[in-house]
Amino acid sequence: MQTAVLVGCGAMSEGWLRAIAQINKGAGKTAGAPPVTLVGFVDLDADLARKRADQAGYPDAQTGTDLAGMLAALKPDIVFDIVVPQARAQVVAAAFDAGCDVLSEKPLAQDLAQARALDVHRRATGRLHAVVQNRRHLAGIRRARDFLAGGALGEIAEVHCDFFIAPHFGGFREEMRHVLLHDMAIHTFDAARFVAGIEPRRAVCLETNPAHSWFAHGASASVLFECGAGRVMSYRGSWCADGMATSWEAQWRIIGANGTLLWDGNDGFQAQTVAARTGFLHPCDPCEVPALGTPLVHEGHAGVIADFLRARATGTPPLSDARDNIRSLAMTVAAIESAETGRFVDIAADFT
Ligand SMILES: NC(=O)c1ccc[n+]([C@@H]2O[C@H](COP(=O)([O-])OP(=O)(O)OC[C@H]3O[C@@H](n4cnc5c(N)ncnc54)[C@H](O)[C@@H]3O)[C@@H](O)[C@H]2O)c1
Repeated sequence: MQTAVLVGCGAMSEGWLRAIAQINKGAGKTAGAPPVTLVGFVDLDADLARKRADQAGYPDAQTGTDLAGMLAALKPDIVFDIVVPQARAQVVAAAFDAGCDVLSEKPLAQDLAQARALDVHRRATGRLHAVVQNRRHLAGIRRARDFLAGGALGEIAEVHCDFFIAPHFGGFREEMRHVLLHDMAIHTFDAARFVAGIEPRRAVCLETNPAHSWFAHGASASVLFECGAGRVMSYRGSWCADGMATSWEAQWRIIGANGTLLWDGNDGFQAQTVAARTGFLHPCDPCEVPALGTPLVHEGHAGVIADFLRARATGTPPLSDARDNIRSLAMTVAAIESAETGRFVDIAADFT
């Protein structure tokens, strides 16, 4: 059985541990995703590491604060990286040095320089690195993607996403700069690339922190991405928007040459396509958005982790390979730079 050390035993690790238990219980259901056992738990807080190991049913796992020492002693196959974003680069580098493949929480890195340096390190050590973009493993996102790929709307021209929620997290998010763009918007940016196949070329962003915000910086942002060939993506978001909340997956309007898809981010899909090219407003007919042909075996975090295990076993890339995910990070980085400079910012495209 392949082994893993889990590092970062905070809030998100509970969701990971539930997902791992689900995968192991249903082992074999996802083709090529073998089970995994946790042999070590690391956190800056040694008591928390012990608590998580015991809670998750791993009383024999080693626990502690020294990641490099534990990796040298246990020689696991995998590191599950769930630390705060500031600690990610050092944790991933230590894992590569110890010969481990890594599944990291988002964001991949603090900036593109750090992401590129990690990629150089990954190649030098010959490891696999993937990032948790759990939205790629949600039934709604797959359904929207399949519908667009089926061509009913024709060439996609506009993707508009609204994200309005008012969470009180406490912790690192309430202190960080550009909190919405850095910590949350990447989910929607990555989902837009995945669903509609857009690859933005430049970004312009207006970011604010409303007077009533309980975050230190950047709880609200509006971003426009120019995607080439007249295509555009817009993102309007706020993390201090009480009332009339959208889904955590955002609320979407996707416009193609032949019509429009509305998706509420949950189970609500509506589409219309042009019935006849005549008159002042061309008449449109409802268009069915088919349910997923094959239901997902695992969703969200369980989907990402199962996909990573499958990728390790089969040698085919995971859906959120770090080499692809850097393009979603590049959207975030460009939006942040635009928020700081007030200008359009080109999005790097020279990723291999
Ligand atoms: N994909 C998602 O939907 C989703 C949702 C929530 C959080 N996250 C991501 O998960 C990560 C963790 O978030 P969280 O909410 O669990 O944060 P958290 O603060 O609750 O937990 C992070 C833990 O990491 C530990 N840590 C920090 N530096 C460390 C180091 N160098 N070595 C070992 N442990 C270290 C901290 O002590 C803490 O226990 C973040 O990157 C966050 O963006 C993703």
